[in-house]
Amino acid sequence: MSYYQRHVFFCLNQRANGEASCADHDAQGAFDHCKSRVKQLGLAGKDGVRVNKAGCLDRCAGGPVAVVYPEAVWYSWVDQSDIDEIVESHLRDGKVVERLVLPESVGR
Ligand code: FES
Repeated sequence: MSYYQRHVFFCLNQRANGEASCADHDAQGAFDHCKSRVKQLGLAGKDGVRVNKAGCLDRCAGGPVAVVYPEAVWYSWVDQSDIDEIVESHLRDGKVVERLVLPESVGR
């Protein structure tokens, strides 16, 4: 049994050397929005959903990226409505948002 039902990690990494990084795509804004929606919907906490910051997850070319466990589903998104869909469909209802899934071939 997991402590959390679903655990989400958002890459918030910023690089200073000009290479692709998730912070260039307002990863912080998406993280903040996700946390706040999870809380508003009453999903946060033990046996529920936990949303955490992460450093580079080494899939920078697809940034911004986040990964949801235990399913190990990787997402990328465009705007906050995409985050809403991930929260409501996957984090709350357990249905993966296929259109936002990061292709397996995307790496650093
Ligand atoms: S900078 Fe986000 S995955 Fe590397």
